[in-house]
Amino acid sequence: LSGALKIAVAGLGTVGAGVLQLLERNGAVLRQRCGRDIRVTAVSARDRARDRGVNLRDVAWFDDAVAMAREADAEVVIELIGGSDGPARAVCEAAIGAGRHVVTANKALIAMHGTAIARMAEGAGVALGYEAAVAGGIPIIKALREGLAANNVTSLYGILNGTCNYILSAMRDSGREFADVLAEARTLGYAEADPGFDIDGVDAAHKLAILTSVAFGCEVDFDGVYIEGIRHVSAQDIAFATELGYRIKLLGIARRVDHGIEQRVHPCMVDEETPIAHVEGVFNAVVVEGDFVDSTVYQGRGAGAGPTASAVVADIVDIARGARIPTFAVPASALEKLPAAPMDRHRGAYYIRLMVVDRPGVFADVAAALRDEQVSMESILQRTRDPDGAVPVVMTTHDTEEAAMKRALARFAALDTVVEPPRMIRIESLMK
Ligand code: NDP
Ligand code: HSE
Repeated sequence: LSGALKIAVAGLGTVGAGVLQLLERNGAVLRQRCGRDIRVTAVSARDRARDRGVNLRDVAWFDDAVAMAREADAEVVIELIGGSDGPARAVCEAAIGAGRHVVTANKALIAMHGTAIARMAEGAGVALGYEAAVAGGIPIIKALREGLAANNVTSLYGILNGTCNYILSAMRDSGREFADVLAEARTLGYAEADPGFDIDGVDAAHKLAILTSVAFGCEVDFDGVYIEGIRHVSAQDIAFATELGYRIKLLGIARRVDHGIEQRVHPCMVDEETPIAHVEGVFNAVVVEGDFVDSTVYQGRGAGAGPTASAVVADIVDIARGARIPTFAVPASALEKLPAAPMDRHRGAYYIRLMVVDRPGVFADVAAALRDEQVSMESILQRTRDPDGAVPVVMTTHDTEEAAMKRALARFAALDTVVEPPRMIRIESLMK
């Protein structure tokens, strides 16, 4: 290893500008750790005139990021544009085709095309770094791929989207409205270009699919993730969760089951005594259970310029040091293709909220629907009275199969005393 490591950066938004700032500010410690300088030789973005708060003197500017990936005087191309296809994918493929290493923060790209791009990179003998794609500043890819390499992972779960956790925390703390809190998360640079990716659970599913591949040695299977977002979580559900001793979190959960790999992202009620219940705001947390190590917990800021730049530059440091580890922990050509476990076969407990007409006999109808689908109720409560209007009735169940729960929900929805679509949130039983 000799001479500076030259890098070209495509995308100078929240993360791109953060990476340039970090390289400038921490240049000395990086030089010490890598044994060489890391030098930005080229950049690309859409608007050349925009002030990004970084020094771009002596750096080549490319209007065309793909041309930069092919032609810049650089050994490494950093892709920070975003999006699963389009220019981001073209930049990565062009860079690999030109024999350059690639580092990206783009979870959409890795979730959709990660296996193919990893095969390309490994075939070309270059690195594909994507630490920043999952859980922002938490070095969870390194933890899984290196620190836990000796274990069979039995399960993993976590809070994988900072925007959703920020929204759920703020709604619970202040009782503020969903839209108001989302606007704040966007201003802070946490949300995706399309914030629907955050609140509809897609971003967390991208990250879960990547983690699953590294943890279980399988191809990245985004289509195999069951996804529900947080749009339907209401202030009422948050209040009932508190009353029942739970907090609502958007979790990503993956585990091996007899019939394949279960991957799911959805709002969960978690016991308020579990550590993950107390992970608030933009923080993410991931719990990994391994057969020899038992349970391990990783926590940190899941979004924003600084934490994400920290993860991007960690990948650059690996390349500068000459470290090479298979992209998804095993060579990409050896990744298994594992079947996705259908959600209907999932077993767990459920929270149900119905808005019902407040008159005698409603509880009997509700109980009959559960009896007919063999769903065992754990508790039922009605806190308010309104003989002229609708009132919430909240139930929790014992463990049951998802398919039976869905049939019971359809029966509730068909009752003329139930005046709004039933709301269901899964209760996740986690280690305290
Ligand atoms: P931004 O929208 O802030 O930045 C995107 C950048 O890409 C902008 O500088 C934009 O240029 C540039 N760009 C867009 N199209 C092109 C193109 N065709 N050619 C060259 N440059 C282009 O996004 P973020 O920085 O927030 O996100 C970047 C990536 O990092 C995404 O994949 C995202 O998912 C991921 N990520 C983001 C995190 C965060 O907290 N923000 C955390 C973890 C990952 P211009 O500025 O001129 O418009
Ligand atoms: N929009 C993402 C989040 C950024 O909120 O978690 C970090 O990947």
